[in-house]
Formats: sequence, structure tokens, C-alpha cells
Amino acid sequence: MTIQSLQTIFTLDKNTFTAFLVADDSLELTKNLTPADVVAFDEKLWEAGNLTRHYTRSEQYLFVGLGKGAEVTVEKVRKALHAAFNEANSQKVESVQVVLYIPAGNADLEYYALALGEMPVLSNYEFNSYKSEVKAPKTVKNVHVLTNIPNAESLLQIGKDTAEFTCIARDLVNEPPNVLTPVTLAERAEALSKANGVRAEIWDKKQIEAKQMGGLLAVNRGSQTEPRFIILEYKPDNHTNDKPIVLVGKGITFDTGGLSLKPTPGSMDSMKSDMAGAAAVICAINAVAKAKLSRHVIALIPSTDNRPGEDAYTPNDVIKMMSGNTVEVLNTDAEGRMILADALHYAKELNPALVIDLATLTGAAVIAVGTIASALMTNTDEKTKSQLTQAGLLTHERLVELPLWDEYDELIKSDIADMKNIGGRYAGSITAGKFLQRFTGYPWAHIDIAGPAFLESADNYRGKNGTGVGVRLLFDFIRNYQ
Ligand code: BES
Ligand code: ZN
Ligand code: ZN
Repeated sequence: MTIQSLQTIFTLDKNTFTAFLVADDSLELTKNLTPADVVAFDEKLWEAGNLTRHYTRSEQYLFVGLGKGAEVTVEKVRKALHAAFNEANSQKVESVQVVLYIPAGNADLEYYALALGEMPVLSNYEFNSYKSEVKAPKTVKNVHVLTNIPNAESLLQIGKDTAEFTCIARDLVNEPPNVLTPVTLAERAEALSKANGVRAEIWDKKQIEAKQMGGLLAVNRGSQTEPRFIILEYKPDNHTNDKPIVLVGKGITFDTGGLSLKPTPGSMDSMKSDMAGAAAVICAINAVAKAKLSRHVIALIPSTDNRPGEDAYTPNDVIKMMSGNTVEVLNTDAEGRMILADALHYAKELNPALVIDLATLTGAAVIAVGTIASALMTNTDEKTKSQLTQAGLLTHERLVELPLWDEYDELIKSDIADMKNIGGRYAGSITAGKFLQRFTGYPWAHIDIAGPAFLESADNYRGKNGTGVGVRLLFDFIRNYQ
């Protein structure tokens, strides 16, 4: 169900399902807004994680405990809102009132308001495109918010829009690989961009050949489907950055591993998600455009599937990349770095202020940081790094930094070419990062989203499967960028 109306209100309607998010310091307020004798207003009501229901035929009050006011965080509020919308959906409710009081002066005030906009959308998400019948569809479609947060109305809309783009990224990831190919990914990116005022340029195989993108072409050799190179640009007249922010997303629409075939069951099962980086940057630039942020942003997406077809690129091949450098292929499953290298090299032509790439690049990143964070590797100054990390904390799309020390570069030296495409058993995420770094030459941040991009089981408001990770992170970073 899509959210049809979302707005702030100043008084509660007593016939509408109402969710109170209650901390110890908002108990009094909650009492005042609730008919006397509805529930006992004791400690239990505001205890963290506690759900208190008071449903009669005409009154539906739900109290969600936030714990001690001083310990409330934006993420706790997101989770409480998810619990509230879940309950509303299971009660088949269409209209929900939400009451949230945050003490004025809280440093993250605007993020609470954004969360109020995000959550009805993120909570309602389902991917039902291929089901003949949906058993219990979500029902919530109107959300009214009573809050003391100033300017909440416009922040609600921004939160809602960003969440909707997050859900589009989820859809792109969840689409099966026989539907979402490089060709249809490009078509969808173009259609979405047209609707939001983003310029789209799509290169087909001929144009990719003309550009001598050897890495992308090598990975594409085992495939029956043409590759695409997608360029999206948002450049409003009032942009404040004279050099663009360039986003790069890995767009492997399916990763079989190629001739270095992945084992199955297991490793290959979720590899339709190997274009989650592409989905994130496509949706992030469109979110930036929809919000009319005054930033010049460009997104680059190299896209192909990775298959072991007849003419597939082969271990021991030496590939000449767009940059002119040569790569000895020792594992065709390390294909993400091959296609990203050409995109990162091409980015030099755009004279970027900063390039951020998002990629489901290594299984090692999942081992290192799990599914609750992404691995960040960067050569940028401390200021940019801390702005990225901060955006990660506030959106709860968190980043853990791994180093790019010189010594790691030794691990990708090749006997016969400029480098090899794998670095051995150790430090797998970092050697992938070091490989990419060789194709940069500007401020750059690499974010390995292999863990959080796709979940085998639901984790709260991050449902099962595609999560859309990266959209809210990039949007928040770009919104605060100067
Ligand atoms: N797409 C995979 C990485 C991946 C693994 C993403 C698990 C999400 C979940 C990538 O192309 C890959 O196969 N990487 C190899 C690199 C290795 C051959 C050096 C890996 O991580 O095993
Ligand atoms: Zn692979
Ligand atoms: Zn891959």
C-alpha cells in the first residue's frame, strides 16, 4: 500500500487509530492527550520496547515505550514507529495518528521529523509483483503526525520521498535477473530520471567499445546480453559546488562467478542483488533531484551480468583496461572491481570534487562487519570522512572504516601484468579497495555494501531481501555537503 496522505496535525481525532510514542519525560503530555481512564499511566507504559494496547470498538490507542527520554535515539524512534505501523497494518487500519514529543534543543531534531516521514513508507514495503494473490495486504495509507518538532511538515515530505526512493532501490534489487538485465536496468534508470529532472545518457556495447572500457567488456564476454554504461546528471542552476559529486554503482545484474563459478546452493542464491550499488546511486541522485537540492551530482553505472558463456573471460587472461593499465585475471568472480575500474577511470574526465562508489564487492566485507554496516575505504580528508560517517550514524546506514595502507598494495602485484584481480586469502575487502584505488586520482570513498544490501531474514524495518541501503545515506550526505 502506498502512503497517500502524510501531514502534521494539531489536535487528535478520537476515532482514529492513535500511536503514542512514550518516553518517561513525555508521559504527562500523553496523559493530557488521552481520555482519562484509558490505561494506567505507569512506568510500564514508557518502558523501552513495551507495547500497550487499548482497543475498544470506537477507540484505538497504542502506546509504544521509548524508555528514558534522555536515552532516546532516532533509530529507537524508527523502530518504535515500525512497531506501531505493523500493529496498525495487522489491525487492518487505514488511517493512523502518531504522537511524538522530542524535547526542544535535541541536536538531532530534524532527523526525528525525517524518520516520521520515512517510516510509514519503509514499514509498508512489500515486493508482490510476481504473486498471483496477496494474502494480507498492508492497509495503512493516511498518516497524521502530532509533534512539537519545528518545520516538521516539510521534513516529513523529504523523509517520505527519500523512503520512496529507498523502496524503488529495493524493487530494483528484488527484481529477478531474467527481468532486470543491464538493458532493462538502463531503461528503468532513464524513465525514473526523466520523471525527476535528471539527465540520462545510456551507452550501448558499441559506445562502450569505442571508449575501450576493457574491464566492463571482459566481464560481459560470457553473457548473451549487452552491457550498458549509464550516466545520470543532476545540475540545477543554483548548484553550490563548482565540481560535481560523482556517484558510482556496481551494476552486476547477476553474478554467477563466471568460469570461477560460485557454488550453489549457497553463494549464488542471492546474486541478483549484485546491482544493489547501482540501485542505490540511481535512486539517490533521483532523491536529490526530487528534493531540489542545490548540488551538482553525476551517477555512473557500469552494468553487465557475469556468466560462464562460451566466450567468457578466463582465469589467466590479461585485460587492458580503459585506463591503459593491464590486469591479470586470476578469478572471474572478482568481476566487480573490473567494471568499477573503468567507471572510476572515466570519472576523471568529470573533474570531480569527490567520487563515492557503492558496491556489493566482497564476501569478506560481510565477514568483517556483518549485515548491519558497510565497509568504508577512503583517501579523503578527515572532514569529508567524518561527514560520511556522521551521515551513516544518523541514517543508521553505518560505515566502518578499513585502512588503505600501502603494504596492502603488494598483495595485488602480478608477475606478468600491472596488477592481478585478486589478492589472496587475507584482507579481501581491502585488496579490492586497493585495486579500485589504482584507477582514482581524486578524493574518493569506496563503500562495500555486500553485507547490508540483501538480507536473508527481516531485520525490523529493513525487511527481508533488498534493503535499499545507501539511498538514505547518500541523500543525507549530499544534503549536508558543502
Ligand atoms: N558479488 C560478490 C561479492 C558478494 C559476496 C556480495 C557475498 C554479496 C554477498 C563478488 O563479485 C565476489 O564474488 N567477490 C569474491 C572476490 C574474490 C574472488 C576475490 C568474493 O568475495 O568471494
Ligand atoms: Zn563475483
Ligand atoms: Zn559480484
